Amino acid sequence: MHDDRNIIEQAVHLLQSGELVAFPTETVYGLGADASNPAAVAKLYEAKGRPGNHPVIVHLSELSQLSFWTSQIPDNAMRLAEKFWPGPLTLILPKAPHVLDAITGGQKSVGLRVPSHPLALDLLKAFGGGVVAPSANKFGRLSPTKANDVRSEFHDQVAMVLDGGPCAVGIESTIVDLTGSQPMILRPGMIEQAEIESVIGAVRLAAQFVEDESITRAPGGLPSHYAPTTPLKLAHADELQRIIDNLPKGRVRIAVMAFSAAPLEMDWIIANSDPHAFARDLYSNLRQLDKLQLDQIIVEVPPEDSHWDGIRDRLVRAAADK
Ligand code: TXA
Ligand code: MG
Repeated sequence: MHDDRNIIEQAVHLLQSGELVAFPTETVYGLGADASNPAAVAKLYEAKGRPGNHPVIVHLSELSQLSFWTSQIPDNAMRLAEKFWPGPLTLILPKAPHVLDAITGGQKSVGLRVPSHPLALDLLKAFGGGVVAPSANKFGRLSPTKANDVRSEFHDQVAMVLDGGPCAVGIESTIVDLTGSQPMILRPGMIEQAEIESVIGAVRLAAQFVEDESITRAPGGLPSHYAPTTPLKLAHADELQRIIDNLPKGRVRIAVMAFSAAPLEMDWIIANSDPHAFARDLYSNLRQLDKLQLDQIIVEVPPEDSHWDGIRDRLVRAAADK
């Protein structure tokens, strides 16, 4: 306990000095910087290799801080925040005038979230201000769900990595934009559309998530994101079987993540059929297969139903042409 306090104090001191501190959230690890310090924010974008027009999420310790960061709080925002915070939900709201352009990508809105991981909350409470934290990976790569994933990617570019064990949710927060005439889900996550709708009524899904009639084809215009370095392909069970049947003998250069067991001796992860467990393990499974440096990773297409929306989104992006 005493040790934990020391570590938090040290982390707060580093954030106040404009350094980067990685910390666990329930979704993925975040790479944190003081949201009010332009130099710290610049250092964050530099370390991540992120283009300046991509906005970042401000993390807060409690709902009462919302009013400081926004110029207006619609009723729907209060309803969603009361229901889902602390938790894996990000709200896009009209920004307060003092919010740095550098964290909003020059937009008039700001992304806000109160995470539920106890270590994140300890850090945010002790720091007091907002902490901008994109997922702690280099731009376009897989998000980290363990402290070691962060260390191996950033080394001494990050002053400190708080280790809170593996992340429980495993994929990034659901993002709901409340700045337009109708609420819109910009990024699906493990808080589902139906759960959002049960609180605020109808929400739209951003266009890129509704056009994917064929999930094995990368939808046009989708940036490659959340991707391993090994090319990743999505395949239905029958297609996967055909690929395996046609493998040249003795030269198995593919790794597979599928819901069934391996028919041959090969690099194969049996995926969990429960969406929450699948999401929790998704990025660490892909990292494990990526490390093998084979020619291709094949992932069996997840079920069609809405419990898998967030997972399907990440897989389609991971499979998108670079
Ligand atoms: O679960 C999460 O949300 C994790 C953890 C660390 O909290 N964070 C995360 O951050 O995924 P990042 O930077 O990897 O993704 C943030 C997403 C981006 O897609 C960005 O475009 C969107 O949030 N975003 C942030 N502010 C926005 C804004 N003002 N308008 C529209 N989109 C915004
Ligand atoms: Mg990210």
